[in-house]
Amino acid sequence: MASTASTATHELTYDRFTILLHWLTAILVVTLWALGQSIGFFPEGPFRKGLLGVHILLGIMVGAVILARIGWRLSHGRRLPPADQGALEWVAKGAHLGLYLLLVLTVAFGLGRAWVHGVEVFHWFTFPRPAFATRAVTHTISEVHGDLGDIIVIVAGLHAAAALFHHYGMRDSVLRRMLPGKRRG
Ligand code: HEM
Ligand code: HEM
Repeated sequence: MASTASTATHELTYDRFTILLHWLTAILVVTLWALGQSIGFFPEGPFRKGLLGVHILLGIMVGAVILARIGWRLSHGRRLPPADQGALEWVAKGAHLGLYLLLVLTVAFGLGRAWVHGVEVFHWFTFPRPAFATRAVTHTISEVHGDLGDIIVIVAGLHAAAALFHHYGMRDSVLRRMLPGKRRG
């Protein structure tokens, strides 16, 4: 029997590229946060420098992934009808927009942090330390980068909890539409 239009819409999933970019972003953000938190525990030396180099390279990678995601969403990416109605629809939209904004700002302040510290990345490249990088500027940029990283993890945690509540509490298809697997549509 042919499915109704609403069932067909309900069963649509995001396209593969959107799903790939979403989970890449999630994995990279959690790894970057954990790495960022751990670097300070190690004594100054080559190992700590190496960890910082990895953090910076993964940070640049997540920046590229986010730009690709935004470009794809604005062009070919599949958009699905909202998962919630009424006020919750706006909460979800605000959270998604907020996550994009936080991601872009965290990467920008991360680059700023590496720049004002004149960080060296694996002997390949050294950020040229600018003349305006006074103690106060360096401190502020570092604090803002760290705080943004913490806020992303908190907002993403609430966002993940909402997705899991849809799946296990409301038993709808919201989480499934962002999962890899058999494509419907
Ligand atoms: C750091 C981790 C994460 C970040 C930064 C993140 C970010 C985002 C963003 C920005 C969107 C909006 C996509 C769009 O419409 O353009 C989204 C959608 C979604 N995310 Fe995440 N996410 C993360 C982790 C998770 C986790 C762990 C889950 C599942 C447990 C999850 C499940 C979903 C689902 C189901 C959607 C689609 C919601 C809908 O169709 O309305 N996300 N995510
Ligand atoms: C979403 C992406 C990112 C997240 C979640 C993140 C998270 C963090 C966190 C939690 C810290 C520790 C904060 C503190 O103790 O003050 C940190 C440190 C740092 N991050 Fe990021 N970061 C990201 C991207 C970047 C990027 C793109 C760069 C540079 C290109 C960068 C450069 C740095 C630097 C230089 C430090 C200082 C490490 C140290 O010497 O202790 N981050 N990051």
